[in-house]
Amino acid sequence: MIGTERNSRAAPRAEPTRGGFGRTDGRQSYDAIRDKVQHQLLAQLSPSADLGNVEEVRRALERIFNEVITAEQIPLTRAERIETFEQIVADILGYGPIQPLLLDETITEVLVNGPNQIYIERNGILEETDLRFRDTTELMHVIDRIVAPLGRRVDESSPMVDARLPDGSRVNVIIPPLALDGPCISIRKFAKAIFSADDLIRVGTLTPEMIDLLRACVLARLNIVISGGTSTGKTTLLNVLSSFLPDNERIITIEDAAELQLHQRHVVRLEARPPNVEGKGEITIRQLVINALRMRPDRIVVGEVRGGEALDMLQAMNTGHDGSLTTAHSNSPRDTLHRVETMVLMAGMDLPLRAIREQIASAFDVIVHLERLVDGTRKVVKICEVQGMEGDVIVLQDIFQYVQTGIQNGRVQGYFTATGVRPSFMTKLETHGFHLPASIFAPMRKPAR
Ligand SMILES: Nc1ncnc2c1ncn2[C@@H]1O[C@H](COP(=O)(O)OP(=O)(O)O)[C@@H](O)[C@H]1O
Ligand SMILES: [Mg+2]
Repeated sequence: MIGTERNSRAAPRAEPTRGGFGRTDGRQSYDAIRDKVQHQLLAQLSPSADLGNVEEVRRALERIFNEVITAEQIPLTRAERIETFEQIVADILGYGPIQPLLLDETITEVLVNGPNQIYIERNGILEETDLRFRDTTELMHVIDRIVAPLGRRVDESSPMVDARLPDGSRVNVIIPPLALDGPCISIRKFAKAIFSADDLIRVGTLTPEMIDLLRACVLARLNIVISGGTSTGKTTLLNVLSSFLPDNERIITIEDAAELQLHQRHVVRLEARPPNVEGKGEITIRQLVINALRMRPDRIVVGEVRGGEALDMLQAMNTGHDGSLTTAHSNSPRDTLHRVETMVLMAGMDLPLRAIREQIASAFDVIVHLERLVDGTRKVVKICEVQGMEGDVIVLQDIFQYVQTGIQNGRVQGYFTATGVRPSFMTKLETHGFHLPASIFAPMRKPAR
């Protein structure tokens, strides 16, 4: 029997992209089988049958599929049989050829460039699949199915739409005439498998000592900025640090698209809203930050600062709303400071640079900087203390760093080490009852994994 379990999400799946169907003749035979099954289904189902009854349609599909395979004497291995059947079900009931890609948890992005080209990202690497849509009509059909539940539609008058799949994956759709080679879908899948602190230690992103320090910093209400380039793991680390927030505090999260997954009971989640097609109705992160301050927060977690909200966050951090967490896009801890300066200027308050720097220096306590190394691994390459001002310059002091020593068999070699400097925020940690052993700040050679 094939595909008897309806809830096949949890079951191990055949590799959708390496199945028996190449781009040419294999594809044709797949299309032929699917068309027969679909045709038979429509012929056999009574006109009153409910196509919305997935359970029933699936049972009918399975029976018809087995009949067609037997009648046509189509030679398929067991794995091919399962895969073909699942694809047919997906084509008829789900998001067409991309349905199996959406279910495959090892795939992080699905990119459709017109009906004939479907790429995926897996382990940070893009690859083209053998899959494709039958034609533009089928592709537009899938697009409608994605955006319809959100009350949106995609057509010539609104050719670009942002949407979300029921599982939280983010979708962007853009169609002709703006997209020249056919409708495009870009899906950034919702990472279901979230990393825990132990996971990050296990994959070598940081050490247990660094986690201990960061946990103490979160609990002692230091203000922490996680910085790094695109896809370096900022949001993932923010999730981990947020998991250290105590259960008895009121936490307000503010994001562009909800990615944080907090398990505390008292969490209020806010999400910004992009403008609609007429360019109206936008609610910015900045507006949400200002609103959140009126909601009696104990902690504010901002998914990412990009603009004028930086000013409001600095002011909040400097006026009693300490213990905030956020991320920022940057190339180094020092660059983080420059970028925040620029963001504050975007608030349009015309503040002198020196005043901005003073605000930053007194608001931020810790910068945790991530990098994605050449072998694709993500590392916390620096934990820095923001110590204050010296003249016109903000003083940064490295506490931990990753030292890269070379590359072997394509894998980066190196180790994490403390710099030997005891952070001056230790007094604050101690008043909160955290007495970390002095030894964790001793520089030591530790072979990285
Ligand atoms: N420490 C890590 N090790 C390996 N993969 C990671 C790590 N952190 C994040 N990832 C993966 O990298 C991708 C981007 O992570 P994310 O946290 O969204 O990055 P950013 O917020 O910096 O853009 C996700 O697929 C995530 O699962
Ligand atoms: Mg992010």
